[in-house]
Amino acid sequence: MPNKKGKYDSRNKLNNLTGKEWLKLTKSFWESESCKLDKKAFDHPAPFLVKDVQKLIKMFTKKELTVLDPFCGSGTTLLAAGLINRNAIGIDLNEKYKKLAIERLEEQNISSELYKYIIGDSLNLLKDFDHKVDYIVTSPPYHNILKNKGQGIRKENDNYRNGARTGVDYYTDRNEDLGNQDTYEDFLKELKKIFRECYKILEYDKYMTVIMSDFTVNKKEVCVQGDVVKLMEDLGFKFAGTTVLLQNKKPLYPFGYPYAYKINHHHQNLMNFRKRDY
Ligand SMILES: C[S@@+](CC[C@H](N)C(=O)[O-])C[C@H]1O[C@@H](n2cnc3c(N)ncnc32)[C@H](O)[C@@H]1O
Repeated sequence: MPNKKGKYDSRNKLNNLTGKEWLKLTKSFWESESCKLDKKAFDHPAPFLVKDVQKLIKMFTKKELTVLDPFCGSGTTLLAAGLINRNAIGIDLNEKYKKLAIERLEEQNISSELYKYIIGDSLNLLKDFDHKVDYIVTSPPYHNILKNKGQGIRKENDNYRNGARTGVDYYTDRNEDLGNQDTYEDFLKELKKIFRECYKILEYDKYMTVIMSDFTVNKKEVCVQGDVVKLMEDLGFKFAGTTVLLQNKKPLYPFGYPYAYKINHHHQNLMNFRKRDY
């Protein structure tokens, strides 16, 4: 009987997927998928969804390897990794998010041996890291958009992810918080410093995924993806392609109507990079 999941190739040094499963994940778009494990994460203003990040971890690691998220927030990366038997390290400035993450992890009985959540500034902490990691997946603050637009907390409704935001909730008031940089250029400069440390501690030949959408700066649309790819290539990473994560359930806003075209961002860019010399 042929195996429905496909066949595992013993030459596969990257992951535990069969050829069929691998191929499916190379598609350049995925539909974002929610599940009940996401619900608690919305006590954080901008979490990943477990299933989305889990697909990345499945693609870029084998079981028992180590994943790092230097902007770990509600701990989704740790949870997604722990559920499929990967080790994971998370860093965040905000103690409150660590508490939320630990609650989520304990609810799912993830062994505390599989994860470590460190509180502090990623730049300082990564400089002192004494071991390497096998995959990095992260979503940094989107410059100061939470503060600028006065929009942080998602609107309560029965369907917990509709994307609507009301009220103000931002990450921290600290200077090291990448959400608190005065200009977009300062934000990119600080982000680059942290990603330089990420490059150093990532094993050779391994991958890093940066999750961000484009956004507006001073009401002007910015191609954030272009800036991030350039920044990563300056550091030595090789660009391996972007998976577009479709967020089809978000509400549409008539931003420029009926005077000018203004885009509704209904996707995230999952920008994949590899640490490699050629
Ligand atoms: C977009 S959120 C990440 C959300 C996360 N992916 C999740 O699933 O909850 C960015 C996070 O970066 C943290 N942060 C900002 N600057 C930081 C820094 N210099 N070092 C560590 N964490 C930082 C913020 O506190 C915030 O939780």
